[in-house]
Amino acid sequence: MRIDILTIFPGMFDGVLGASILKRAIAAKRLTVRVHDLRRWSPDRKHRKVDDRPYGGGPGMVMRPEPFFAAVEALTANAQRGRKAKGPAPRVILLTPQGQRLTQPVVQRLAKRQHLILLCGHYEGVDERIRALADEELSIGDYVLTGGELPAMVVLDAVARLVPGVLGDATSAHDESFSGPRLEYPHYTRPRVFRRMAVPEVLVSGDAKAIEVWRQLAAWQRTRQRRPDLVKAS
Ligand SMILES: C[S@@+](CC[C@H](N)C(=O)[O-])C[C@H]1O[C@@H](n2cnc3c(N)ncnc32)[C@H](O)[C@@H]1O
Repeated sequence: MRIDILTIFPGMFDGVLGASILKRAIAAKRLTVRVHDLRRWSPDRKHRKVDDRPYGGGPGMVMRPEPFFAAVEALTANAQRGRKAKGPAPRVILLTPQGQRLTQPVVQRLAKRQHLILLCGHYEGVDERIRALADEELSIGDYVLTGGELPAMVVLDAVARLVPGVLGDATSAHDESFSGPRLEYPHYTRPRVFRRMAVPEVLVSGDAKAIEVWRQLAAWQRTRQRRPDLVKAS
């Protein structure tokens, strides 16, 4: 899978791409991530400005449409040239608090795509006409952040870990919270007793069937306690 990110703060992505599972997935070529400085496509050659004052007045700056359009057109044309057989076009996603809420089913759907382009807004937001570029708009929750960079990292991380071969056997997305109608069962590791809190006996019994039954029951029990809305919706 390939993910292109358009941002005015490309350096923000260094940490997330340079550590842990994402770093390994990129090194193993399971995942290609390109972070592009949007200013490269600014029509303002001298100052590389990508924002301007809002028509109608009001506080803050709004991101201009030209750099986003030029960047997406360039990336899409490159992608078309790069595809030997005629495959699906990149899916362009605008990060915005006004978009569809990001959920695990949305992540699962996106993980099936070959190529995503993520557009990060900043300041007061983006010129309304940029929406015409996007195949979909995603929000990571009902709160407002300063920019689309953290939301893009969230989408990137959630999608990448579902790409085949990224997690490997050691960490599996199987049975996880939100992969079905319930939360995942509780986990324990060593020590067997910690500050008088003991690991449930069944987990050290060696009885695989009993462990499976306990996990299923525990998963449903905690889903009912913490997220009754998931139980109702199932
Ligand atoms: C300060 S926000 C703009 C908010 C906008 N004025 C509004 O009220 O809807 C700047 C940028 O951050 C990103 N952003 C902020 N919160 C977000 C969220 N919850 N989900 C996705 N993107 C978000 C978007 O890219 C947005 O263009």
